[in-house]
Amino acid sequence: MKKFPEGFLWGVATSSYQIEGSPFADGAGMSIWHTFSHTPGNVKNGDNGNVACDHYNRWREDVEIMKKLGVRAYRFSVSWPRVLPEGTGRVNQKGLDFYDRLVDALLKNEIVPFVTLYHWDLPFELQLKGGWANRESAWWFGEYAKVLFERLGDRVKYWATFNEPWVVAVVGHLFGVHAPGTRDIYVTFHVVHNLLRAHAKAVKIFRDTVKDGKIGLVFNNGAFSPASEKAEDVLAAKFLHQFNNYPLFLEPIYKGNYPELVLERLGEFFPRDYEKDMDEIRQPLDFVGMNYYAGHLVKYDPDSPTKVSFVSRNIPKTEMGWEIEPEGLYRLLKSLKEEYNPSEVYVTENGAAFKDEVVDGRVHDPERIEYLKAHIEQVWRAIQDGIPVKGYFVWSLLDNFEWAEGYTKRFGIVYVDFKTQKRIIKSSGYWYSEVVKENGLK
Ligand code: FCB
Repeated sequence: MKKFPEGFLWGVATSSYQIEGSPFADGAGMSIWHTFSHTPGNVKNGDNGNVACDHYNRWREDVEIMKKLGVRAYRFSVSWPRVLPEGTGRVNQKGLDFYDRLVDALLKNEIVPFVTLYHWDLPFELQLKGGWANRESAWWFGEYAKVLFERLGDRVKYWATFNEPWVVAVVGHLFGVHAPGTRDIYVTFHVVHNLLRAHAKAVKIFRDTVKDGKIGLVFNNGAFSPASEKAEDVLAAKFLHQFNNYPLFLEPIYKGNYPELVLERLGEFFPRDYEKDMDEIRQPLDFVGMNYYAGHLVKYDPDSPTKVSFVSRNIPKTEMGWEIEPEGLYRLLKSLKEEYNPSEVYVTENGAAFKDEVVDGRVHDPERIEYLKAHIEQVWRAIQDGIPVKGYFVWSLLDNFEWAEGYTKRFGIVYVDFKTQKRIIKSSGYWYSEVVKENGLK
């Protein structure tokens, strides 16, 4: 039996735009994911979040499901335009009430709420003002964060400012694959910098408003391995680690500058005089949130702008085409401790998409069980090595709107029939429920 420390926070995760639906209910404003997904060509099959999992209406049932699974924590995000329809100024009480009720229901069922302030649905009104490219965005975010800290901070003790700021900046502003769909390398690095400034603003406000809570930041991470032992391939993997993973943001927060290889290769795209903001950005964190899905083999490539390219491996992949490499999670947790030594770490997302089918009213998903088991084992290993991992969250509670992939990729441990909104707990859901109950792996 691989036992976990007592009080280990076993959870499930979701995000607002991916599950809620009802984008205009109770006076909510539009988000950039509404406008982006309604623009032809951006999302597979023309899908959008108009209905999603209808969680805005079915949240009671979803809390019941969590209760049934016995999970100890629920990581969800708040939709900014529900709370502040114009992004700043007027507060929409009804939007805020939705999250208030959800938090109360969770607590009543002994489920710890773990709130993400920003999981990608910026108010469209703020996009019209330049969105994250505008330096003012740090103040906008601070104002929004304050409204939530004041309303929910008495009951919510775990807060994350941003989910995957790299994805926000790069996938949204360089690749143009996520909202707002921009493709500009200078805008991208202005966004990176403004997200850090916004994060720091919120942390400062948090210290004055929620005295007994914890606040952190959640990163996307890939396990990058060099294709050979050649120095240039090793450097390629090192660059990608510094650029794609937690160091892009933790190096400024802990050490006051962007990572060395990022500055060397991409420094020209950052705002002029960005150094002036670094003192402000260095706000201590209470925890680091690590999302992890896949590993990648990388090599030096003189023809690529960043001098790096990916080498595909013949190893098992998920429906996303992501290469399954559980030890990668262990290595990342280990390097996180070596590089920044945070006081607490949470694996805030881990999970997989597979082709799920309903057969005789059940969904049997052995591949997902295998995936989760292999990764949870690596978390256990990391804890044995003294890495302070305090919780683990499966992505996701429900099958949901998978961004540019629409409804074609199912990540849930609970199946959602998008025609009827019927939920079916998958085999992986029952399996995870046992892990939580046993507080460990058999
Ligand atoms: C992460 C996102 C999450 C979900 C998973 C599959 O990058 O945070 O919303 O889309 O990937």
